[in-house]
Amino acid sequence: MTDPVATITIPPHASIREALRTIDASGLGIALVVDGDRRLLGTVTDGDVRRAILAGTELDAAVSVVMTQDPVTGTETVELDEARALFFKTGLKHLPIVDDGGRVLDLLTVSELLSVPLSNPDITDREINAVLEVLRTPTLSLGPKLIEFEARVAEFAQREHAVAVNSGTSGLHLVVRALGLTEGDEVITTPFSFVASANCLLYERVTPVFVDIDPKTFNIDPQLIEKAITPRTRAILAVEVFGQPVDYDAIVDVATRHDIALITDCCESIGAEFRDRRSSRFGDAGVFAFYPNKQITTGEGGVIFTDYADVAALCRSMRNQGRGEGGGWLAHERLGYNYRLSEVSCAMGIAQLDRIDEILESRQAVANVYTELLADVEELEVPYVDPATTRMSWFVYVVRLADRFTRDDRDNVLRELRSRGIGASNYFPPIHLQPFYRSQFGFQEGDFPVTERTSSSTIALPFHNRISQTDCEVVVAHLRSALREA
Ligand SMILES: Cc1ncc(COP(=O)(O)O)c(C=O)c1O
Repeated sequence: MTDPVATITIPPHASIREALRTIDASGLGIALVVDGDRRLLGTVTDGDVRRAILAGTELDAAVSVVMTQDPVTGTETVELDEARALFFKTGLKHLPIVDDGGRVLDLLTVSELLSVPLSNPDITDREINAVLEVLRTPTLSLGPKLIEFEARVAEFAQREHAVAVNSGTSGLHLVVRALGLTEGDEVITTPFSFVASANCLLYERVTPVFVDIDPKTFNIDPQLIEKAITPRTRAILAVEVFGQPVDYDAIVDVATRHDIALITDCCESIGAEFRDRRSSRFGDAGVFAFYPNKQITTGEGGVIFTDYADVAALCRSMRNQGRGEGGGWLAHERLGYNYRLSEVSCAMGIAQLDRIDEILESRQAVANVYTELLADVEELEVPYVDPATTRMSWFVYVVRLADRFTRDDRDNVLRELRSRGIGASNYFPPIHLQPFYRSQFGFQEGDFPVTERTSSSTIALPFHNRISQTDCEVVVAHLRSALREA
């Protein structure tokens, strides 16, 4: 068996070059300098080496020249909570564990202890029992749970029809097809979103016409939509980014005046409200998504909602290989797909819907905690909630760094947070700058400046239903120190 400690230790006479190799090979950003009995003499981090090189030290110099002597250590009996508090207080990332004689036994890293994930599904016995109940039946697809789940989602969305599918992406694809959008058509949408909200157009060779976003809400800027309308425009695909409804007053108005369809991507915003009306009530058809990072989950899944019976019927047929309503299993009336959602997923979805109010409230409470903790952090802005958003459905909690921070600074903050076990992320890289969109459409940096600036200055913090006050405090403490170092 390999000795894990041996891979991170080096003797004091080893060169800085050798220390760098050890640091690199371990992937931990540190090497422990030990004597022949493995007694700890010091530590050397990649930062120590960088500073030494900048100060003119040769790579062939002995590592003992640059090491930190008498580092903070823990003993074998250190409690995890104690270590966690120590990391929190000192900002250290590593804690060598030594025995009574000062010999190295282990190395604790902050990422092992402080792991706060970006998202976390909220699964209780209710969901587990609902799934087990389905597994005890012979019907695992196209059964009673699908019918019940669709009825429940339609009621929740305040729509006539709901069609469950196996992802938000497949739901959007079917809506695009059901509305008859096709090659040569243009659909106006946002470049600041998850890539699926534009990909669903490309599947049907529909041209996405991006317009820039509002710098405060991060949603599509309604003022720019009108200018982008051409005789080929057939629809607006509005994304409710991070759980905030778009400006339906303006968008419904422009869609109505130009007689074009409105598709709503509510994949991040189930339960949100615009001027006291559920946002899923607006538009011709829309989609919720239920990936595990969403407010509620079915593992994988999505639901299309609409008031049009023909759109719902087409989607229902296309998700099931193009089968007709009364036709046989091997009769395919149109081009279809296998976008079905299993009974297991539907049962999970019903159980999650039973708890949706409680879930949305706990997310609101987490958002409040973050907003309070971040109130005096002048390096950033907390999320903006528009007065027309009478209920935010918090999908993620995204902060924006002050203008003086560059994109590199933001990336450094992210890297620093991740190295400390904080699951932060860069939501979202602009769609138009994704390699496929650049090569397919020739988009370049500068095309959508508000989107690009937003995208290079935002950070999504760990956010889920059950994140504790303490974890939020830990996240904010590390964010503060990462911002100072950026
Ligand atoms: C705005 C938006 N649209 C579409 C999707 C696609 O949903 P799914 O991952 O279920 O396919 C997502 C998922 O993250 C999303 O955030």
